[in-house]
Amino acid sequence: MSRFIVLLSALLVVCRAGVCPCERSELCQQIREERDFEVFVFDVGGKTWKSYNWSMVTTVATFGKYDAELMCFAHSKGARVVLKGDVPLSSIVDRDNRTAWITDKVNLAKSQFMDGINIDIEQAVEEGSAEFYALTDLVNETTEAFHREIPGSQVSFDVAWSPKCIDKRCYDDVTIAESCDLLFVMSYDEQSQILGDCIAMANAPLHQTLNAYDQYLDLNIDPKKLVMGVPWYGYDYPCLNLSQDGICSIAKVPFRGAPCSDAAGRQKPYKWIMKQVDSSSSGRMWDDKQQAPYFNYKDQKGQIHQVWYDDPQSICPKADSVKSKGLRGIGMWNGNILDYGDDPVARQQTEMMWNALLGC
Ligand SMILES: *[C@@H]1O[C@H](CO)[C@@H](O)[C@H](O)[C@H]1NC(C)=O
Ligand SMILES: *[C@@H]1O[C@H](CO)[C@@H](O)[C@H](O)[C@H]1NC(C)=O
Ligand SMILES: *[C@@H]1O[C@H](CO)[C@@H](O)[C@H](O)[C@H]1NC(C)=O
Ligand SMILES: *[C@@H]1O[C@H](CO)[C@@H](O)[C@H](O)[C@H]1NC(C)=O
Repeated sequence: MSRFIVLLSALLVVCRAGVCPCERSELCQQIREERDFEVFVFDVGGKTWKSYNWSMVTTVATFGKYDAELMCFAHSKGARVVLKGDVPLSSIVDRDNRTAWITDKVNLAKSQFMDGINIDIEQAVEEGSAEFYALTDLVNETTEAFHREIPGSQVSFDVAWSPKCIDKRCYDDVTIAESCDLLFVMSYDEQSQILGDCIAMANAPLHQTLNAYDQYLDLNIDPKKLVMGVPWYGYDYPCLNLSQDGICSIAKVPFRGAPCSDAAGRQKPYKWIMKQVDSSSSGRMWDDKQQAPYFNYKDQKGQIHQVWYDDPQSICPKADSVKSKGLRGIGMWNGNILDYGDDPVARQQTEMMWNALLGC
């Protein structure tokens, strides 16, 4: 009888932690070691992670379905795998609700043998509002709980490309940075609020991007808390008019207080862009001011489009400044959108995109 109870309680313990799905049980152990340089990858699902350059990956934030095979593989390479965390801020102003959310995430991380969480809350927040304080508390309490329950785990928080209330996201960036392990700075979608001429522009112009890091550093945020996020996607804009000088005017689509935004275009993966540029009317062009590539093409209906994107040439100087500014590392949105097929040209383009993360 008592042996039965011992067995039963042992089973309960195993169930709560989950049964290790890896070939070797040690692969379920969470990663504890800290690496000098972060390469932070967002994975949105599928199996292309098998083709990542794992000699550089340090963290994979899983935004797709839970994939035990990915967790086991990442652990075999010493890389962390972290959950996605998102919640409507209005529902976590209440402390009990907040605690319940955090407990739920910690338990999920334990049962899936995950190494932390990436908090991706991109909601508009007014400075000094109840949500403003609740968000800061959420990050603090999540970090406390993860570090306590899963030693060595990593809690990261995604911030806009600049700390200046981009997209009405007015967060307490300073306290949030102090309250977690790192900020992933989303240095893209920088045309989400166009206040000047309504024209197609680069997703992440070099100088604007780098100036925004100085804004973060001027707030006295530790550079070792900042990971630079670069885009592995671009924007395809239908042009209302393409001027002689190659300026593409775009439809006025307002966003969070701005009359015009990149929502007039569509996000396109690098994989698609590399095919489209070959069949474009202009071929790849380079904008010196924004330090970014772009091209024009005509679709089947005769509509002219302008596509702005990032490639190794535009990413290189950004990656270099990660080193010169002493930041924690680099990452991208997202790891899956390169061409991981067998075509030798695509293979080389993919390899160059990975290598560009380490600088020129
Ligand atoms: C993977 O990254 C390393 C640097 O960490 C680099 O030396 C190597 O060439 C890359 N592998 C491929 C296949 O590009
Ligand atoms: C608690 O959270 C739930 C959703 O998880 C929400 O429906 C509810 O309104 C919240 N309660 C409070 C007091 O915020
Ligand atoms: C959370 O906030 C408390 C109270 O201000 C502070 O003592 C603690 O160090 C914070 N924890 C983290 C992880 O920032
Ligand atoms: C469209 O572009 C042409 C050629 O540059 C220019 O002459 C014309 O004024 C533009 N039209 C509008 C509505 O901007």
